[in-house]
Amino acid sequence: MARRLEDHIAIVTGAGSGIGRATAMRLHAAGARVVVADLNAETAAAVASALGERAVAVTVDVSDPAAVTAMVAACEAAFGTCTLLVNNAGIVHQAPFETLELEDWDRMIAVHLRGTFLCTRAVIPAMLAAEDGVIVNIASQLGQIGGIDLCHYSAAKAGIIGLTKSLAREVSARGVRVNAVAPGPIMTDLSMRLSEEWRRTKAAELPLGYFGEPEDVAETVAFLASPAARIYVGQTLGPNSGDVML
Ligand code: NAI
Repeated sequence: MARRLEDHIAIVTGAGSGIGRATAMRLHAAGARVVVADLNAETAAAVASALGERAVAVTVDVSDPAAVTAMVAACEAAFGTCTLLVNNAGIVHQAPFETLELEDWDRMIAVHLRGTFLCTRAVIPAMLAAEDGVIVNIASQLGQIGGIDLCHYSAAKAGIIGLTKSLAREVSARGVRVNAVAPGPIMTDLSMRLSEEWRRTKAAELPLGYFGEPEDVAETVAFLASPAARIYVGQTLGPNSGDVML
């Protein structure tokens, strides 16, 4: 039997802000126990304390293996074995390809792709042993269609989609479901860091005419984590205001 939302022990990375915060709140409201993990100790603590019982804050850099191991240990100590991992932590940066610095490329890949790998690697042995686990990776529609001045970001997100599909093929029969979410433009601090011109052009292109809210993405994550999504495997769902239709 697939685990009910309220029975999950969840780790949400990047949960101090935006989509991660909304996801932590949505899962917590359903009754789940939630590790609010973020590079920013202050925002993680603020979210966890606003949630109260059944939530703890953990400071983590998802690209650092030792910090990721400590995050999973903190989950174990507070609530028990993690049954739901939401790989959400992310950053954005824009540069034309000709001037893209190796440092910016490496950081982008490290936070998104290496981070998703490390966090997944840290929780999956226990999930497989229990034949019980859900992993939701936050990609982006830019990983599906690309984006100008966003080669590094788009490549990292496309990598996450590839990782999701391959891992889903490997582990689904052993009780672990892996899926991705590829949001379109969502109103968060991250999208506000993109140029104003990009935001104006993008809003005008959307069939729906407006950006999504973090809660829209949180709802998609909650669905994928729930028993209602029991036959969703290796999928990439698109809460995207109609921007990308696959
Ligand atoms: P946000 O900037 O509001 O939140 C991102 C959080 O990740 C922040 O709290 C930040 O401190 C944390 N973080 C950054 N680097 C970290 C690290 N190394 N380790 C741990 N935590 C780290 O951004 P938003 O929009 O909520 O983004 C969440 C995810 O959604 C990201 O993966 C982003 O790429 C993705 N996304 C966002 C879209 C948007 O339009 N806002 C669209 C598509 C995808």
